[in-house]
Amino acid sequence: MSIQPETLSTRPDTPIDGGTNFEWLDSESLAKGFRAYNEGLDVPKEYSDSLDSILANQSETISDCLADHQRRVGGYAGILLPRLFPEYDDAFHIGLIRVIGAVHDIGKEEIDRDVMYRSIGVEGYGTFNRTRDMPEVIKHTFYGYELLTQKKDELPVEAPFIAACHHQFPDVRQEPYGMDLMEVNRRFANNPEMAKWVRAAVEVVSLADYFDATSRFNGYFSSVESRNSGLLNYFKLRQPHKHLQILQALEHEKMHYQIQIGKIALVA
Ligand SMILES: [Fe+2]
Ligand SMILES: [Fe+2]
Repeated sequence: MSIQPETLSTRPDTPIDGGTNFEWLDSESLAKGFRAYNEGLDVPKEYSDSLDSILANQSETISDCLADHQRRVGGYAGILLPRLFPEYDDAFHIGLIRVIGAVHDIGKEEIDRDVMYRSIGVEGYGTFNRTRDMPEVIKHTFYGYELLTQKKDELPVEAPFIAACHHQFPDVRQEPYGMDLMEVNRRFANNPEMAKWVRAAVEVVSLADYFDATSRFNGYFSSVESRNSGLLNYFKLRQPHKHLQILQALEHEKMHYQIQIGKIALVA
């Protein structure tokens, strides 16, 4: 049975860049396109401005790889949100998750640079080794929380929690790391609605992150087939009742993105 991609009422369907397929855009155009992609959603200008400047700085000082990954995760999160949590299917929450999804890995700026390059698959830094490199990689959740807390006047207040908690939904082979979701409940004890929204946003960004980090053949899996089954198993585990619809919607969205960089490791 084939499943047709759903049409999302709040997603702008107008082609980016006057009809250019996002798939073929280089990093510079992807950066420019991301802002246009968010048009029609309720994204305050100061958030878009600070996102542009953070990601442009990452491209310049670290790698386009990291900034591109974060933009794609923001986009995928916007696709997932109404499918996982229909109560947030509105231009405000979709705009918000596009922004906070696009800074989820900002903490990678602060970890050992060689480990960071290996973790996102930049050539020339050797092969990522979980035993050796994970103790350093896990710190990006804490650094992300700190960096985004400092930027609380420029970005949504939810952003630090997304950075802190986005590795709480691993696949069966991995252990969760970063801030526990119980801590979100504790921080927002006086605002249960906010706690609920932040937990939902964390889950959505985590699944979007997994999809982007593994949706291309990237050397972590031994073959395209094992990659595909790994992806399927992950979404079955996390969304047992909707995994096929969700994967189809994400694959559909992927066609909007540039897919020229084939190496982003599973740990991203
Ligand atoms: Fe991460
Ligand atoms: Fe990531």
